[in-house]
Amino acid sequence: MKDHRFKRYTVTAALPYTNGPVHIGHLAGVYVPADIYVRYLRSNKKDVVFISGSDEHGVPITLKAKKEGITPQQVVDKYHRIIGDSFRDFGISFNIYHRTSSRTHHQTASDFFKTLYDKGVFTEEETEQYYDEKANQFLADRYIVGTCPNCNNENAYGDQCEKCGSSLSPTELINPRSTLSGDKPVLRKTTNWFLPLDKMQPEIEAYIDSHKEWRPTVYGQCKSWLNGGLHPRAMTRDLDWGVKVPIAGADGKVLYVWFDAPIGYISATKDLCNPTLSEQEKTDYYFNETFKPSEQWENYWQSEDTKLVHFIGKDNIVFHCIIFPAMLMAHDKFILADNVPANEFLNLEGDKISTSRNWAVWLHEYLEDFPNKQDVLRYVLTATAPETKDNDFTWKDFQARNNNELVAIFGNFINRVLVLSHKYFEGKVMFGSEPTNTDQEIIAELKAYPAKIASSIEQYRFREALSEFMNVARLGNKYLADAEPWKLIKTDEERVKTILNIGLQIAANLAILAQPFLPFSADKLVAMLNLDIKDWDQAGRVDLLADGHQLNEAELLFEKIEDDAIEAQMQKLMNTKTTNEQEEVILPAAKTNITYEQFLTMDIRVGTILTAEKIAKTKKLLKLTVGTGIDQRTVVSGIAEHFEPEQIVGKQVSIVLNLEPREIKGILSQGMILMAENAKGKLSFVSPGEKLANGSVIR
Ligand code: MF3
Ligand code: ZN
Repeated sequence: MKDHRFKRYTVTAALPYTNGPVHIGHLAGVYVPADIYVRYLRSNKKDVVFISGSDEHGVPITLKAKKEGITPQQVVDKYHRIIGDSFRDFGISFNIYHRTSSRTHHQTASDFFKTLYDKGVFTEEETEQYYDEKANQFLADRYIVGTCPNCNNENAYGDQCEKCGSSLSPTELINPRSTLSGDKPVLRKTTNWFLPLDKMQPEIEAYIDSHKEWRPTVYGQCKSWLNGGLHPRAMTRDLDWGVKVPIAGADGKVLYVWFDAPIGYISATKDLCNPTLSEQEKTDYYFNETFKPSEQWENYWQSEDTKLVHFIGKDNIVFHCIIFPAMLMAHDKFILADNVPANEFLNLEGDKISTSRNWAVWLHEYLEDFPNKQDVLRYVLTATAPETKDNDFTWKDFQARNNNELVAIFGNFINRVLVLSHKYFEGKVMFGSEPTNTDQEIIAELKAYPAKIASSIEQYRFREALSEFMNVARLGNKYLADAEPWKLIKTDEERVKTILNIGLQIAANLAILAQPFLPFSADKLVAMLNLDIKDWDQAGRVDLLADGHQLNEAELLFEKIEDDAIEAQMQKLMNTKTTNEQEEVILPAAKTNITYEQFLTMDIRVGTILTAEKIAKTKKLLKLTVGTGIDQRTVVSGIAEHFEPEQIVGKQVSIVLNLEPREIKGILSQGMILMAENAKGKLSFVSPGEKLANGSVIR
């Protein structure tokens, strides 16, 4: 690695909100790229701490608790486990996965605030906020609903209308209501502490300007915030779930969740480097026993020779590039991020991933359906990573990449070279005749790859890195296909030894190079090759396996994914869609009651449509003849836009017989066909469940 400025690395991955499980969007946007980067650094024997944890404060968590009738602590306890297990199961190799509800974090965040407070950094401001007089509390934006001034949606939130997507502030809502009591909230004065970002703008601007190498999307978003002019931002809120504001007279106030959460990275590092953690704390967090930090926590946060990198999604850019750096600057002891490689969003089958609409592939569910296929998902999400623009995950693409790339290229090469080695040489590496010129060219080509892949990773271009990695497997495949050892084995065994040796050395290279991307498969391959060299700096060589080295049994690295597995996933999503559509329906209000006698005045019967024709010069009307058992009558029905006449002849329907006849377009309509209509206006006949005689009574 070329970067000699830095002695150690602090790599953070955004702390996910603990109000639901994690899905492929989390993995693709943040955790897989971060893990690739960290595994690569470790393979280069770098001193690195990889930090994340659960973001356990914030209003969405209290809302979830309310909805489920449990406490916020119960919500975060539940999801901290589910999320932490998912990350562990996918091989996301955090040194520590921490929590912001922990004692250490409350202490750290509280001290941080106090330090800034004592330095006089904050300004105190009185503002008017909505207050619920029945519930006796100030209302966070999400606790207020009302009519959207833009689209008239009656259920817009105080911060956003989910119907038209516009972002709002609570005072813009027409007819605001509190979600706690349903009452109209009142405006009340309250004092909060603000970070004067406006005054800090020059320092922040200088910091951003010193990082023109950042991804254009990240740098661009920062510049547009700066160009709009920064405003003071409240760092405390009138809520009760969070880190209590540590100053006198601040009862009922907590730190703004975006103040406390990024400090969570620091709290986590503290506990990671603390050798005297209690047993309780040890089991509360997730630790990676293989990677113990060698230094004190301060070195990872306060030493100029530490490289700090934040992996996040694009909705976190302003917090990590402007607000958190401003907090760190104000504190004055901390280093700032060297890079913030934020990703765009991953969509799922063309639609935005959404926890509330259940439009997601949940990681714990994926593992139930595809056990031991962590690397397949890691691969697909890296190959389609939304590094420069939003991307789409589709199950068809997932299947194709598994079958045509992992199985057909990487897996196939490894399988061929190992199987042939076992078949011809009892699983031993054999040095044969001198390499040919073609062999030398292949060796030279191989040699160039590790540096190429490294350079892509160091520039946070993980898609590119992965595709270069696959080129190494392609190289191996092509080499075997061209050299055709299976043909030469009868005539030139010495040559076959050389070919398989070179093939096996390429396989050993793949085992090293695969580690950042496909850690499970890399481990499998290392075991099959019985390889003991694993560091990145060994890659590119063709003496990784010695003459006579014994290989282990070959097993398949990847398996084909069949159509039915993919169809099952598509079906699952279709079901979600159907459920969502049904829930989105706004049903008409219930009507006032009628008596049974009133109900009995209606004469509804089973009838059969005998003829149907369009009524000229109308769009909607069909003229029907209906056999009612009693007679045959004409009915004019407004269903022409929904059904073709020939399609409905012979259909059994329900008909109201005693509706006063009416003349419509010059035709006397004697009765009405009953139709069911959903909220989208789709019509369906109300027919008996089985064929019944015309005239049968419906009641
Ligand atoms: N919980 C936030 C989210 O999911 C991310 C917090 S990152 C941290 O968008 F910096 F605050 F930790
Ligand atoms: Zn709206």
